[in-house]
Amino acid sequence: MRSVTILGSTGSIGRSTVDLLIKNPDRFKVEALVAQKNIEALAKQAKTLQAKMAVVEEESLYEELKDALAGTDIIPAAGKSAVIEAAQRPAEWVMSAIVGTAGLRSTYAAIERGAIIALANKESMISAGPVILSALKKYKATLLPVDSEHNAIFQVLHEPHRPHVEKIILTASGGPFRTFTRKQMASVTIDQALKHPNWSMGPKVTIDSSNLMNKGLEMIEASYIFGFPESKIDILIHPQSIIHSLVAYEDGSVLAQLGIHDMRVPIAYTLGWPTRIKTDLPRLDLSALKQLTFESPDEELFPAISLAREVLKKGADRPTIMNAANEIAVQAFISGKAAYLDIVPIVSQVLDQIETSSPSSIEEVLLSDQQARLIAEKVIHKKNAI
Ligand SMILES: NC(=O)c1ccc[n+]([C@@H]2O[C@H](COP(=O)([O-])OP(=O)(O)OC[C@H]3O[C@@H](n4cnc5c(N)ncnc54)[C@H](OP(=O)(O)O)[C@@H]3O)[C@@H](O)[C@H]2O)c1
Repeated sequence: MRSVTILGSTGSIGRSTVDLLIKNPDRFKVEALVAQKNIEALAKQAKTLQAKMAVVEEESLYEELKDALAGTDIIPAAGKSAVIEAAQRPAEWVMSAIVGTAGLRSTYAAIERGAIIALANKESMISAGPVILSALKKYKATLLPVDSEHNAIFQVLHEPHRPHVEKIILTASGGPFRTFTRKQMASVTIDQALKHPNWSMGPKVTIDSSNLMNKGLEMIEASYIFGFPESKIDILIHPQSIIHSLVAYEDGSVLAQLGIHDMRVPIAYTLGWPTRIKTDLPRLDLSALKQLTFESPDEELFPAISLAREVLKKGADRPTIMNAANEIAVQAFISGKAAYLDIVPIVSQVLDQIETSSPSSIEEVLLSDQQARLIAEKVIHKKNAI
């Protein structure tokens, strides 16, 4: 039986993971579940899965969690240090699915004890790529990408053929505004941005997907995970989200991974790795689909892609800064303090204003992250004051 911990169990990825665990009771046992504040869902999951520990990050909710778990053997805990403690418990496999840089410390804590990390929390890799990569090596931990594109590449990148890779090609649905004009984009509302045509995801990643910031960030994530420069990474719009990504080799062969657009498919791959588990998900029926279409991204409509390319080329802590500034800009859009089309320019202005460095520890990464957040807040404040 594989022991597992889920960091962010009550979110979209977390719930999909829980669903797979419930359907495979003989294969997995649960060490710890972590949420931020959703006590009701967390306690229900912990009871159903007979977890050993349930943690809520919000410290003031400890008593409430304790009450919700009364009469069980599940250990309740609360606070930031309890989240780290959960990651340190001896689970063989850890799902990193907290949203944003908030997931960095706990992901790192699981790496430090050599766990298998199923990484959904792309922001950890984007903000601390070099530090995470060297820790994975140092502590002999294993990284399994959950993001559907990176999971696809992981499945079709035959390691001995790595020197013969010409390109890796990340597919993107193009989001809900693929056919919009810039003028139409200027009046996009939060409700519109929160409606993804194919995927059902948490709010932050849904907004990132709508302006292709997600694809820009994923390009950085792919560069770190697979070790290819920006020049070897292409983006391809594929509105049906059936081909999840491709690897093109120098002999002209192109290998792709296909599947329905349901995150339980890549999550199941990481749960079963290095073998596979059975799922009862609907099967891909290509004859019913009939048509798969592709187009190049419009980088004028979606400037986040060229911004991410520039960030990757220039390096240093620019990915950390881009990621942090984007989190603040997205929050500002959600809370009505920034317009939809302000998100990318805010990130770009922060990158122009900040002094860059090359962090070599998590503490230094978090320092860069904090500085970028402060500058992003100032940029937004200044915009609103005009
Ligand atoms: N959803 C997808 O299909 C998808 C696909 C690819 C990659 N990803 C990536 O996966 C990650 C999770 O995305 P999601 O869509 O599942 O997000 P989500 O639905 O917003 O869920 C976030 C989870 O993290 C918890 N959380 C938030 N802040 C926390 C904190 N400070 N400490 C501890 N727990 C915290 C939340 O707890 P509460 O419920 O208590 O707030 C929730 O369990 C993101 O990095 C995203 O980019 C998601």
